[in-house]
Amino acid sequence: MIRPVLRMGDPRLWRKAKEVASFATPELHALVADMQDTMRHLDGAGLAAPQIGVDLRVVIFGVDGNPRYPDAEAVPPTVLVNPVLTPLSAAVEEAWEGCLSVPGLRGWVPRWSEIRYTGFDAFGRRIDRRVTGFHARVVQHECDHLDGILYPMRVVDFTRFGFVEELFPGGGAGGAE
Ligand code: NI
Repeated sequence: MIRPVLRMGDPRLWRKAKEVASFATPELHALVADMQDTMRHLDGAGLAAPQIGVDLRVVIFGVDGNPRYPDAEAVPPTVLVNPVLTPLSAAVEEAWEGCLSVPGLRGWVPRWSEIRYTGFDAFGRRIDRRVTGFHARVVQHECDHLDGILYPMRVVDFTRFGFVEELFPGGGAGGAE
C-alpha cells in the first residue's frame, strides 16, 4: 500500500527510531511491502520507516537504472533492519542529494566515502557489506533518518542548497533518494 511521506517539519521525522525486536513477523513484512510500494511510486532510491510515520529502525534502498540518477552505479535492492554503520577510512566525498521528505530541493552533502554496514533483512538474516561511492551515500542518507537527521542538516555550503529548477536550470539533477 502506498503511504503518505512525511515532510520536513513534521516532528515524527526528528525521533530516534526504535530497534526492531522480532523478525519475519506479518507486521514487519507488511511495513516493508508498504515502504517498497511507496518508494517505487515516488521513484525514490531509498526510504526509511520514519518517513511514513513508523518509529522503527528499518530502511530500504536500491537503484537499478533509475532515470532520476543516470550517473549512479547500481545498488542492489536491500531491506536493512537495525543497521550499524562504520566508516572504513577518513575519506569524505561530496555530492548532490535529495529526499522524498524535502521535495523539490537538492543539497551538496559530504559523506564517508567507504563504509561497512551490518544489520538484518526482514527475515533476520545477517547483512554485512563494505561499500563505496553512491551506495555508501544512499545508506548513510537513509540511516540518518533513523536518528532524526535530514540531509539539509548536513549541508555545509548553503549556496549549494536550493530548488532543483534554480540549481540546475538546464535539467540534470543528481542526488540520493
Ligand atoms: Ni531522505
